[in-house]
Amino acid sequence: MPHSLILGASQGIGFGFVQRFLAEGHIVHATYRDRISAAPLLDLAAQQSNLRLYALDITEESQIETVLGTIAESLQQSAEPADKPADKPAELSHVINCIGILHQGDLQPEKSLRQINSENLLTYFQVNSIASILLAKHLTPLIKNSPRTVFATLSAKVGSIGDNQLGGWYGYRASKTALNMFMRTIALEYRRTCKSTIVTVLHPGTTDTQLSQPFQRNVPPEKLFSIDRSVDQLIDVMNGLTINDSGEFFSWDGTRLPW
Ligand SMILES: NC(=O)c1ccc[n+]([C@@H]2O[C@H](COP(=O)([O-])OP(=O)(O)OC[C@H]3O[C@@H](n4cnc5c(N)ncnc54)[C@H](OP(=O)(O)O)[C@@H]3O)[C@@H](O)[C@H]2O)c1
Repeated sequence: MPHSLILGASQGIGFGFVQRFLAEGHIVHATYRDRISAAPLLDLAAQQSNLRLYALDITEESQIETVLGTIAESLQQSAEPADKPADKPAELSHVINCIGILHQGDLQPEKSLRQINSENLLTYFQVNSIASILLAKHLTPLIKNSPRTVFATLSAKVGSIGDNQLGGWYGYRASKTALNMFMRTIALEYRRTCKSTIVTVLHPGTTDTQLSQPFQRNVPPEKLFSIDRSVDQLIDVMNGLTINDSGEFFSWDGTRLPW
């Protein structure tokens, strides 16, 4: 049975991935931060023994280390001695980081320089950029011998420097740009340390979640994807990737985005 790890599974696209991978027969390891927003995920875990939940605030490195250590033990216990050497743990086929913030309470995307505030910028970078590199650091021992793992992080097209024609959203944009550089650099190191891991950065397209909800007014209906549609599209993109695609930035339709 394949194992997958979904971070930021309480709601939105992350919760969509959890449901999809369970339906496909995976053992799904899923993280959530807040029990209230995660109520549907907690309910699902009560009915599904293949769903294993972990509380995680991604801004706390010690929590990342603890959660990944627990998952490593679980993979070890899931080894099948009949057809695998005893020291070969079960494999993680997918690690998908769906954690991200665009707005959160008083933190709102900036429309102009007047709204720039260093505390908010730090929050954007902590959650949207630094989280993925800390994750990659503690993930290495779990995937270094895996035959094929896709390590994906959801980024956003607005993080593309080459594509930026509109301006605004300084913190969100720049934190996604930094995320993209971290993932590209992780891909280069993983070529040596986790040779069969495909590192990828994915733009899901505008998807109907609480994150995009306040900004959906000018989005034509055909460009506002349901969560199920986004998950389908992103799974199609990930299924088509080879190791030669590692370190690239893909849109929901499989096209490469400019950095
Ligand atoms: N939706 C779109 O249109 C769109 C477009 C482009 C890119 N994206 C990207 O796609 C990803 C998923 O977006 P979404 O629309 O599914 O957003 P969402 O519904 O708001 O989900 C975001 C997830 O991140 C979690 N999270 C936030 N801060 C966290 C922290 N400090 N520690 C742990 N978890 C934390 C949230 O947990 P809580 O429930 O506890 O808040 C939630 O599970 C994000 O990276 C976003 O930037 C989305």
